[in-house]
Amino acid sequence: MSSLKTTDPQVYKFIKGEEQRQKLGMELIASENYVSPSVLEALGSVFTNKYSEGYPGRRYYGGQEFTDAVESLAIERAKKLFRCDHANVQPLSGAPANIAVYFAWLEPGDTVLGMDLTHGGHLTHGSPVTHMAKLFNFVRYKMKDVETGEIDYDELRKVARKEKPKIILAGFSAYPREPDYAKMKAIADEVGAITMADMAHIAGLIVAGVLKNPFDFGFNIITTTTHKTLRGPRGGMILSMGKVSNPLKAVEKTVENLPTLIDRSVFPGFQGGPHMNNTAAKAVAFGEAMKPSFKVYARQIVKNAKAMADELMKQGCKLITNGTDNHLMVMDCIKSFGIDGKEVEQILDKIGITTSKSTVPDDPLPPFAPSGLRLGTPAMTTRGMKEKHMRQIAKWVVDAAHERKNSKVLKKLKKEVVEMSLQFPVPGIK
Ligand SMILES: Cc1ncc(COP(=O)(O)O)c(C=O)c1O
Repeated sequence: MSSLKTTDPQVYKFIKGEEQRQKLGMELIASENYVSPSVLEALGSVFTNKYSEGYPGRRYYGGQEFTDAVESLAIERAKKLFRCDHANVQPLSGAPANIAVYFAWLEPGDTVLGMDLTHGGHLTHGSPVTHMAKLFNFVRYKMKDVETGEIDYDELRKVARKEKPKIILAGFSAYPREPDYAKMKAIADEVGAITMADMAHIAGLIVAGVLKNPFDFGFNIITTTTHKTLRGPRGGMILSMGKVSNPLKAVEKTVENLPTLIDRSVFPGFQGGPHMNNTAAKAVAFGEAMKPSFKVYARQIVKNAKAMADELMKQGCKLITNGTDNHLMVMDCIKSFGIDGKEVEQILDKIGITTSKSTVPDDPLPPFAPSGLRLGTPAMTTRGMKEKHMRQIAKWVVDAAHERKNSKVLKKLKKEVVEMSLQFPVPGIK
């Protein structure tokens, strides 16, 4: 960064500060990861200079020989990874990907049946604070038993029969178990809904074969971010099954035409020019996810999460669903330590462990100071940590929460966190 260092020392200083923060601390935010130096290089490439509205072979600007090639490559790799008919790699992030699907399939006032937000669903699945909630009618399903995490499929069917949703949405950002996609698909067929899976959190685990692929159960659409377990640049993507045709020509609203409806919804319906540096970086990340080493990585993410969950429970913590089958866990901090998730997040910040507060099912506390804390293992697994390190981190989390008033202990814990962090370099940071 020799140029930036001289032309804009202020921004340079902030980037260097963030590098140090990442290097010296432990990242347990379940939705974060560290990209490879190759992904960083593609992100910082001259593709950022290029406008390319449209799709490969059908653009509104000239000079597209390399943008067409790189977007086509990203699309082909995405299709192979998810084993589907079509991929749109242009959504700028996870939220725009979901919104583009809603606009592709719904009319104002139509209903979507998705997971309750405090039970693990995401804001973009129709939280009342989103614009989408003003346009569409979002109704909810929940877990039947928060001790096991089993979704209440009887209730889901009841609500579906009553509300006649146009989309049944599987997907979550704080659910540690795996949904029964076959049951959801059967209910959707019964009421004439299409099925959409927002796999933002677990896309990497799906493409590695560690978790089930909703397409294997007849799902119509998968939306995902590309920057979580998939370990690519910040961005979104929509995968679908159906007939692929010219995205710039209108088609009838049928399930078969979903790929084209989605393309048209992303552009020109919703977004302008795609961010081609990001598309190039997605292509690189998808290439990395195709390698056998990615399977090993994904398996280790889950092994690490299980070890961390086990240790936290051994240390007396209460976890929602009493464990995990994926990369994340949600701790009930009120039951574990008698304080809310925001306070635990702040205590852990003090010792260099970064986490995110989270609601627990039917949380009586407000979202900004909720009862829970979400922890995840994708990032520290990228740095090479294994089960024994996860158990050590779990002990630090518990010690810090118990000893929160003892600054001497917190200082000692921080020193230990930094020492271990330095043994596991962050990709791309010296
Ligand atoms: C399930 C799910 N969907 C969508 C999103 C939104 O993604 P983004 O923040 O990239 O817009 C997230 C982000 O956390 C998520 O967890």
